[in-house]
Amino acid sequence: MTDVIAIDGPSGSGKSSTSRGVASRLGYAYLDTGAMYRAMTWALLQRGVDVHDADAVAAAAHEVVLTSGTDPAGPTIAADGVDVSGPIRGDEVTSAVSPVATVPEVRELLVSLQREAIARATGGIVVEGRDIGTVVAPDAGLKIYLVADPVARAKRRAAELGVEDADAMREALARRDAIDSNRAASPLAQADDAVVVDGTDLTLDQVIDHIVALAQQ
Ligand code: C5P
Repeated sequence: MTDVIAIDGPSGSGKSSTSRGVASRLGYAYLDTGAMYRAMTWALLQRGVDVHDADAVAAAAHEVVLTSGTDPAGPTIAADGVDVSGPIRGDEVTSAVSPVATVPEVRELLVSLQREAIARATGGIVVEGRDIGTVVAPDAGLKIYLVADPVARAKRRAAELGVEDADAMREALARRDAIDSNRAASPLAQADDAVVVDGTDLTLDQVIDHIVALAQQ
């Protein structure tokens, strides 16, 4: 049985629902590393930091205290003692998070918190993000790279957020993917030993079943 399952992939490919489902089915903990980058971004915006000023971001990031809850039934994330699970999903954070995530000092801080959470999860953990299989947990027993057709991703994300304009959503996801894929520090990338799962024509349950079966091999 695999102890650490890394699930990476572009924005909107269904990583969160899939990862939580896989963790629940296996009785594993769940770590949403995207929520950590979002919570860091929220805390920087609260401090009035210009997210496009890498030096200012790097300096302020050290002051932020993040705490992640790892229950797949109700993951939580707190910044400076405030539960920010709701606010981190808003437009303000969503449009600022990718620039923040390009800053190497931010990545160093968060990767070390992520490795600590993985070390604490003695009963197994599903970790979702962009660089889990490549950087955070290169020894993960199972690495999944979850993809989906961009139009399907945009439709799904628009439906989740109650947004009508799926075209604008597709452009917003593409912008985020471009920044995430092209940054110098641990970009969005498929690990050489990752299993690619294309969820475009599968239901959520089918994707979860497939990954659980791989974990149990
Ligand atoms: O997964 P989610 O959409 O919540 O991630 C938000 C952003 O956080 C991503 O667009 C990316 O910029 C950043 N991120 C990252 N590395 C991770 C997880 C997320 O750079 N491991």
